[in-house]
Order: sequence, then C-alpha cells, then structure tokens
Amino acid sequence: MNESDKRAAALAAIGEVQPGMVVGLGTGSTAAFAIAALGERRLDIRAVATSLTSEALARAAGIALIDLPARIDLTIDGTDEIDSQFWAIKGAGGAMLREKVVASASARMIVIADSSKRVATIGAAAIPVEVLPFAQVFVAARLVALGGTVVPRAGFVSDQGNPVLDCHFPLDTDHVRLAADIAQIPGALGHGLFLYEVSAAYIADHGIVTRLERRRAPD
Ligand code: A5P
Repeated sequence: MNESDKRAAALAAIGEVQPGMVVGLGTGSTAAFAIAALGERRLDIRAVATSLTSEALARAAGIALIDLPARIDLTIDGTDEIDSQFWAIKGAGGAMLREKVVASASARMIVIADSSKRVATIGAAAIPVEVLPFAQVFVAARLVALGGTVVPRAGFVSDQGNPVLDCHFPLDTDHVRLAADIAQIPGALGHGLFLYEVSAAYIADHGIVTRLERRRAPD
C-alpha cells in the first residue's frame, strides 16, 4: 500500500465535487485523504459520513455534515479490492453497512485506491458480514453452509455496536449468487460485496492516476 498514491487518487477524485453538492464521505485511510482535501478546498457542500471516524474527520476539516438524505450527488470511498467489472469488496474497516447505504443513495459512487487494490477478480480479500449479536452463531453457520470460512473479527464492533464476521469463499465463487444468498440470511445486516454500486474508480500507481468509468448497459 502506498500512502502517496492513496492521496493522489483522492485529490484527483475530489475534482468532481462541485459547490452545492451533497457528498458521501467514505471510510478508511484513502477516504481520509479525500476528506482532508475537501476541507482544504472550502467548497460550499454538505456531506454524509459513512462512519463515526469519518464524521470526526469531516468535522475537524470544517465540512458541514447532514443526516442521510434520500439522494446523494456523489460519494467518494476507498476499497479493499476492485476488479475489471467494477465489483468491489469493502469493509476492512468495518463500515460496510453504512457505506453500502450511502453508495446506494448516490447518483455517482467513486472508488479511490492505490494500485494494490486493483485485482483481476475479487475474492482474495475477506468479505465482512455485520451481524445482529443475537444471531451471530446462526448467521455464521449459514455462511459456512454457503461454503465460507468464517472468522469473527476479534475485539471489534461496528459503529452500530454489532460484531463482524470475516469470510473467505472459494475463488471461483459466483459473487452475484453469494451476495443474494447472504442478503437472505435473517440477522445478517450487511456485507462487503459491492457489485452494483461503483460508477468509477480512480486508481493511482506511482503517482499516475487513472480514471476508469463503468459502462452500464442502457435501460
Ligand atoms: C471501511 O470499512 C472500508 O470499506 C474501507 O473503505 C476500505 O477498507 C479501504 O480502506 P483503506 O483506504 O484504508 O485501504
């Protein structure tokens, strides 16, 4: 991982932020660069934070914060992996539940990352699943039944106060099916597979930032 590349990707991405926008602020070390840079630009924006940590960073940077509205103009967030079809795994920081809500509310969601996050096919990173504490053993058993290796994240609870299960599945897993199957487990509150949310990615490699745009089939 490369801190200057994280910063380069973040600086390039915030070029899309316009005055008057409602902006979703991601979580993690890469998103932190975007939050700091947005604060320095002193743009007239309002923002929604995806975690308590990002909320504190935004407040310190002087960014006006609002509660989640029905629609966000633009969200900028980091990732653990992103592949050529813009499928991403997020949640190493445990914020994937709020990140998914904010990404889904966003007209445009940009992933920012150093090149270490770019992969041919997602699946090596752990897929985190946030669970209702009451349902943890049950949800873990269902995830094992889906073919997962499940490790409770030790000493961690989410901003919502919930435990997180870090899951690995075989590399040839059908991730569309898996995302749907996890979503069907009662007590599984959210997961880190982002298959539909990402609109574009800014990837920095040795100081060179590449913008990749997802091409969606017309309706
Ligand atoms: C937070 O839960 C995550 O989804 C992060 O956005 C992701 O882990 C990327 O974090 P870094 O930018 O710190 O690698």
